[in-house]
Amino acid sequence: MSKRIGEILAVSGVYVTIEVDPSISDLHVRYSGKTYTIGQPGSYLIVDRGHDKHLILVTTIRKSRWSPSQNIEEISSQSVKEGLPKGNFPYLPKQPDLIDRTLIDGILVGTIIGQKFEVGVTHLPVVGDNVSIALRSHLSIALAPEKERSTISIGTFVDSTIPVHLDMDDLLGKHVAIVGTTGCGKSYTVARLLHEVIANYSGANVIVFDLHGEYRNCFSSCNHVRADQLSLPAWLHSFDSLFDLCADLSNQFNIHNQRWAFRDGIFKLKQRYCEEILKDSKLANNIDLDSPIPFNFQHLLNYLKNLNNETIDYSNDKPAYAVAGEHDLFKELIEYKAKEARKIAGGVLNGELDRLVLRVESRYKDPRYAFMFQYAEPKKGDLEELVRKVTGFVLESPLPITAYDLSYLPSETVGTVVATISRIIFQTHFLSKRRESVPTLIVYEEAHNYISHKGRGAYGDAREAAERIAKEGRKFGIGLFIVSQRPSELSETLISQCNTFLCMRLANSVDKNHVSSLLPDSMSNMIDILPILPRGHVLAVGQATKMPIRIAVTKIDNENHKPDSDDPPFGEKWKEEIGKRVIPDIAKICDKWIRSEKPDSEAKPDTKKKPSVSSK
Ligand SMILES: Nc1ncnc2c1ncn2[C@@H]1O[C@H](COP(=O)(O)OP(=O)(O)OP(=O)(O)O)[C@@H](O)[C@H]1O
Ligand SMILES: [Mg+2]
Repeated sequence: MSKRIGEILAVSGVYVTIEVDPSISDLHVRYSGKTYTIGQPGSYLIVDRGHDKHLILVTTIRKSRWSPSQNIEEISSQSVKEGLPKGNFPYLPKQPDLIDRTLIDGILVGTIIGQKFEVGVTHLPVVGDNVSIALRSHLSIALAPEKERSTISIGTFVDSTIPVHLDMDDLLGKHVAIVGTTGCGKSYTVARLLHEVIANYSGANVIVFDLHGEYRNCFSSCNHVRADQLSLPAWLHSFDSLFDLCADLSNQFNIHNQRWAFRDGIFKLKQRYCEEILKDSKLANNIDLDSPIPFNFQHLLNYLKNLNNETIDYSNDKPAYAVAGEHDLFKELIEYKAKEARKIAGGVLNGELDRLVLRVESRYKDPRYAFMFQYAEPKKGDLEELVRKVTGFVLESPLPITAYDLSYLPSETVGTVVATISRIIFQTHFLSKRRESVPTLIVYEEAHNYISHKGRGAYGDAREAAERIAKEGRKFGIGLFIVSQRPSELSETLISQCNTFLCMRLANSVDKNHVSSLLPDSMSNMIDILPILPRGHVLAVGQATKMPIRIAVTKIDNENHKPDSDDPPFGEKWKEEIGKRVIPDIAKICDKWIRSEKPDSEAKPDTKKKPSVSSK
């Protein structure tokens, strides 16, 4: 049988319509011992023009009824003239006058010239050009990795075993989003990609924000960091985020007083560090409020309490201490003289900082915020040590992946942690030599939870930090990998800066339309296949792929290297007899709950083996 399936019926820009040869009514073509099903959305066809072959991506297939001899009006008027009523449809032509025609709509994605594939089309096909099935040899040329480009493969083209290569620089350097409903395989795909990274790029630097601790045991070469055990001292945070966390924002009339005192305390403490520890008085006079200069948080609290209790002696306009002598507003809590009519009055902020002091103190004592407020007395070299750890650029035995397990954190602190780590990574790259230093990929798992468009407070902070990377990160060597089941809830800036989309099953029309609005118009028909994509199938669109393509993600053979995200086995567990079921240990759970503890990590055995990566 011939590989020809029909001819071009219409061309409009990148859109083409093909009429299938009426002899192929069952839409199956046998060629060279293989049966090809034609017209499936997501498959490919070839416009065969000899040396140059256009590659068409099929988006729609439809049947239409048509009269070969006359148009419908002619037939209808003829039927009326003949006075032959035909059931309820007197104006429709008689059945024998009509024939079925199968039409395929598609988009032109590129041209195969000899053994090379070029994205785009120089000369458009014309009406009447022959269209044939795309053979494996055509697809192998089209999907071959480009020489001299670094590529990565996460799977094969769904209709064959040809691996699909994604361009590393375009994929990771210009941000990528992976979207799909829960359980469709996003985390699995991320794990697949990162296993490939570990296997092929030994000098990689990837930071993963793991919201549910799914990647805890997944990678052999990974520095797994429990975010609650990480110290991100208060001095590392921006002034605004620290103030938002500590101040009483409900009292608008008092905010300026709180801000002044908070600002003044931090500024003076940072100056003191420059003078006393760094012995750099020039720096002390030139610091920025947001400079990452360590200070002791307990000293800030003392200062605020002292200001709030301060009394002034009228006679000399100096602070009125109960015990005479020199006092340090920061290092000690000072006892002031009680107010006295006509002699001792309250200081400028006396009683004005009650709420601020209360909030700062409660934050300081809150075990959930211990990672931020409880730290040892700052010393020289603190910043360098911390930045090395956070960015993954440690000197001794660096690992390609640093995964921050956010699952141990109370939910209200997740935004703060993500914002701070993101900011440190950005600042490190911003200040390093462009292009010379190692680029970093940041994976935001379940990003809609902490980088949503409606995030406020700490979550607004995380959004701002991530948006800055989305907008400027490329220039400084940072790529983003956004993973989300609710793309419509994500920050607009973040998602619109992604140049590659890995779309998985997406049934919700709001999310589907949102993704559709971010893709080229020509892809709008393809988006309709998203609700029926099987688990583990990806529709890859954008800069990292030469053409829109459906990928079946390759299986991860080693059970231990899969993310810890299996579906709950309802059927199996519910069949067990009442007495034999494993029910939650409620006493233990209540105890943990009371103590604000988190679940134990369920370590899978044998996690330190080398990753085994298979091809399908
Ligand atoms: N390509 C694949 N091959 C085999 N199994 C897969 C594949 N993709 C996903 N799975 C399985 O499907 C289940 C769900 O996958 P995964 O956790 O990656 O979904 P998800 O999209 O990240 O869901 P959520 O949004 O809830 O985090 C897991 O048990 C995983 O092992
Ligand atoms: Mg997941």
